[in-house]
Amino acid sequence: MTAPRPLTPGEEERLVTAAKAARAKASAPYSGFHVGAALLAEDGSIHTGCNVESASYGLTVCAERIAVFKAVSEGVGKFRAVAVATGAETPTPPCGACRQVLWDQCREIEVLMATVSGLLERRTLSSLYPHPFEFGGPK
Ligand code: THU
Repeated sequence: MTAPRPLTPGEEERLVTAAKAARAKASAPYSGFHVGAALLAEDGSIHTGCNVESASYGLTVCAERIAVFKAVSEGVGKFRAVAVATGAETPTPPCGACRQVLWDQCREIEVLMATVSGLLERRTLSSLYPHPFEFGGPK
């Protein structure tokens, strides 16, 4: 598996700042858990998302998937990293559904998990999601 090109400290800072700014836009009246995500594309562009909850709870969409869907729907297809920002006490990794969607669209990337209090953890997506589902086409 090809390792993602490591982020410079400046790129990391930019991406985490973008995830924190996206978190401020979260619409989470039911859980009260506000999440922001920011994806760094190969071309240097950053694509953000926040969680958007529904009164019909199951329709809620996580911040990470919104960031992926926004970027992909704008024609961006190559990514290096995602940052996820929460207000939790410890850094929060993406949920299982988001790990699959991140893998679908990004393959191996860096995952930066940040808290608003300033903690930061780094993992690769494959270490968080080692056996992804991959559709092999019609059989
Ligand atoms: N949430 C995310 O935005 N990302 C995750 O990876 C896990 C959970 C959101 C969904 C819901 O709005 C709230 O956090 C509580 O689960």
